[in-house]
Amino acid sequence: MDQSLREALLSRVGPSGLLEGPDLDRYTTDHRRLYRGQARFVVRPSNTAEVAAVVELCATQGIAMVPHGGNTSYCGGATPDESGLQVVISLERLHRIRAIDAVGGTLVVEAGCTLRAVREAAASVGRHFPLSLGSEGTCQIGGNLSTNAGGTQVLRHGMIRDLVLGLEVVLPDGRVLNQLRQLRKDNTGYDLKQLFIGAEGTLGIITAAALRIGTAPRDALTALVGVESLEATLALLGRVREAFGDLVETFEYMPESAVTLALKHFPQLKNPFDTAHPAIVLVEIPLPAALSGLHESFAHLMAAEIEAGRVRDAVVAHSLSQADSFWFLRENIPAAQTREGASLKHDVSLPLDRLAEFEQRGLRIIADLIPGGRSIGYGHAGDGNLHFNVSPALGIEKNSALEAAFLGHKESLMRALHDLVAELGGSFSAEHGIGRLKVDELARYEDPVALDLMTRIKQVLDPNRLMNPGKVVLPK
Ligand code: MLT
Ligand code: ZN
Repeated sequence: MDQSLREALLSRVGPSGLLEGPDLDRYTTDHRRLYRGQARFVVRPSNTAEVAAVVELCATQGIAMVPHGGNTSYCGGATPDESGLQVVISLERLHRIRAIDAVGGTLVVEAGCTLRAVREAAASVGRHFPLSLGSEGTCQIGGNLSTNAGGTQVLRHGMIRDLVLGLEVVLPDGRVLNQLRQLRKDNTGYDLKQLFIGAEGTLGIITAAALRIGTAPRDALTALVGVESLEATLALLGRVREAFGDLVETFEYMPESAVTLALKHFPQLKNPFDTAHPAIVLVEIPLPAALSGLHESFAHLMAAEIEAGRVRDAVVAHSLSQADSFWFLRENIPAAQTREGASLKHDVSLPLDRLAEFEQRGLRIIADLIPGGRSIGYGHAGDGNLHFNVSPALGIEKNSALEAAFLGHKESLMRALHDLVAELGGSFSAEHGIGRLKVDELARYEDPVALDLMTRIKQVLDPNRLMNPGKVVLPK
């Protein structure tokens, strides 16, 4: 039976479109190594017609499919299950830039383009695609769209959903939904493309997108600001936005525990401050060419803040390489935590005026449940999203019994923190999605009416439950 499926797949994608053999790990294991699945085949179509042909074949034969991008999901959203029956459909060979319109500010790209390739395509015509993620060299735009990626510029530009004008999607029955319009205005019925953004490949496979690109910044102010607390960070956000309005693009919070970890595991990093601060904020304000005086205004504001005792210290980058080193500190926190050993991760968002309360109460929960556990709760404070992660107590060795005991607290810690998030009106998955990891959490915390609608939408589009089954919503 596998032989006839193999031949049928080969006839649709050719020999370079079919991967077999033992080395399929990167398609079957998620990057956090939470799930080790197995694939019946990994297919790599090279254009939309081939994706449609593969999907139609699988649909006809009742074979479950798992769309796969750059494999950077935090929730196992692109990993097949352990049955060995599912076919992984990798989009990596769909990597063409189909069109660029610098004047209209639109870019049409295929799903397998890396985020970096998309940003470079925009830059090649003097434009800017304002989605910024640490994984930009690996993650693919189809995956970014499927998970409604956020990142470090949401404060100014919104999540990727806000940057999409049109989509092309292969539906679970193999039909191609062409909504690849490049229009700023288009009020023609239901906005179907929004259904597929953030659906994590459970409703169809995004094969191409028309994206909005903006003016490329000519200059940017990048600074690190030492502060007392998250509360002080948020108060500072208010004053920075009062002064610079919607130009503020990045406002990232790094508590001392996260900075210490990054400095420990990346010795090439230098602490730009002479003394330690309870928290450091990374601020970036990019400038269109026409404006000037930003650096002076920012320096004045910081002088006044320090004078008033609201800020401890501030350093402004004076070169691109210094700005890069500030970013390096922030972007390597997740990698530093991985190098440190096991971790328990929570990707939460709160209304801004409840964020500091969440942190204080969350820290108490960690201290109560995990004696010695180190909270590494950093993230996109400007938009209310914290990666409220925990590492084991210092001295606990990798792969030791004590580490296993630490990981044994996963469920109780998650429950306590997610209950707190719900109480404060937040989200238990701010930007990493649901995937396989948080299916039960969605069922538990989502409004029952919303959950019912999601299940029905899934049923309408994918009645045979063949498109990325086991992710996001389960059938009733
Ligand atoms: C980040 O903001 O660094 C990423 O979303 C990754 C993480 O959760 O650590
Ligand atoms: Zn993040």
